[in-house]
Amino acid sequence: MSVFSPLFRRLDELLTNNGEFWQFMPFAANQLVWQSNHPELCHWLQSLTDEAIAEFIDDGEALAEALAVWIPDAPELYQLAQLGSLPLQEKELPRGLDVGIPGRKWQQITAFNGALPSLQLPWLEWCAGKGHLGRVLAASHQTSVTSLEWQQTLCEDGEAAARQLKLPITFVHGDAFDPASEQHICSHQHAVALHACGDLHVSLLQRVAAKQGQAVSISPCCYHLIRAKAYQPLSQLARQSDMVLSKHDLRLPLQETVTAGQRVRRQRFVEVSFRLGFDSLQRHLHGSDEYMPVPNVQKALLNDGFAAFCRWAAEKKNMILPDDGIDYGYWQHQGELRFALVERMELVRQLFRRPLEMWLVYDRACFMEEAGYQVSVGTFCDKPVTPRNILIHAEYGSESRVPVITD
Ligand SMILES: C[S@@+](CC[C@H](N)C(=O)[O-])C[C@H]1O[C@@H](n2cnc3c(N)ncnc32)[C@H](O)[C@@H]1O
Repeated sequence: MSVFSPLFRRLDELLTNNGEFWQFMPFAANQLVWQSNHPELCHWLQSLTDEAIAEFIDDGEALAEALAVWIPDAPELYQLAQLGSLPLQEKELPRGLDVGIPGRKWQQITAFNGALPSLQLPWLEWCAGKGHLGRVLAASHQTSVTSLEWQQTLCEDGEAAARQLKLPITFVHGDAFDPASEQHICSHQHAVALHACGDLHVSLLQRVAAKQGQAVSISPCCYHLIRAKAYQPLSQLARQSDMVLSKHDLRLPLQETVTAGQRVRRQRFVEVSFRLGFDSLQRHLHGSDEYMPVPNVQKALLNDGFAAFCRWAAEKKNMILPDDGIDYGYWQHQGELRFALVERMELVRQLFRRPLEMWLVYDRACFMEEAGYQVSVGTFCDKPVTPRNILIHAEYGSESRVPVITD
């Protein structure tokens, strides 16, 4: 019996029914998008101070309760997105293994390793980077590791580190999407992928399932990095959903609006309001109401002011700005007003961030269940260590481990 399909179904229903609150681009709107359907909600949003917004961002439960007036499903969505932590096992590691690994990465890796069962199988490390995780796996389980990585220099660095520590690790310099990489996936194996983006971790799950690999554990990230135009559901269950997820929608789980420091907040305000101000100006000049995205900008350019930003953006978009007659002060102010609106629309979208991530995670979990696997889903570390802290573990024909609900 599927553990995850009831959760998936309910999330699917609530996310689909409430699409008007999250499936849109706040950047492209020049007023609160609920102005005609939910004027009271807009009124409430407009009344919020920056401090109140910051508090709601930090307290998802309070946000869900406050929004319940207009979004009655909000508290249930919040509850459905709560996830317990997986049981962690302290695993002994030889000294010196952490040399050259940044502190937070080390914490992620050791926590990920601590959440993995020791099945005494050879490991496959998919999209290994320098193989930091692989070294921890080889050292703490005393089993061999094959590390597949696309960047030659990372393979060389990883190989050198493994050699120095005398660990049984073989690097394969290869493209995870290349059919030739399939030869490295076999049934007597425990495959892992820590933070392999979008299609990269999906390709691992699909191939492990096709080859009936004994175990696979992934921590997904960057759901929007996919080759297709829109999300391609994995499980039969998700294929029945009416929800169509664009790449923009798929970015939502990663939009953790952490309450950044004063300097970062100021920098974001300048950049975003410049972009929105330029957009308002180009709409005016083109006599259209269509959003015009502008590429990434070197932050130093923002110091030259709004007019310089507009000239740069116009050049990037092959647009000619009239030499005079543009009131840059006015358009900058329009951008600042739109910034405040975007912040308020993003606050509402925050409610759906983790529920959408859980929908994506349960799609993966259901896919593995449908392929005959016992699946566990839980967190392997706290959010400050990494916000992408979910681990999906699937074992062919074994008992699933029940996560511990901590809060
Ligand atoms: C976010 S990093 C994660 C690295 C490592 N798993 C970790 O957690 O430290 C993703 C890695 O995937 C690799 N990668 C990207 N595309 C790939 C591909 N097509 N085939 C194999 N590796 C790829 C990148 O070079 C990068 O090292």
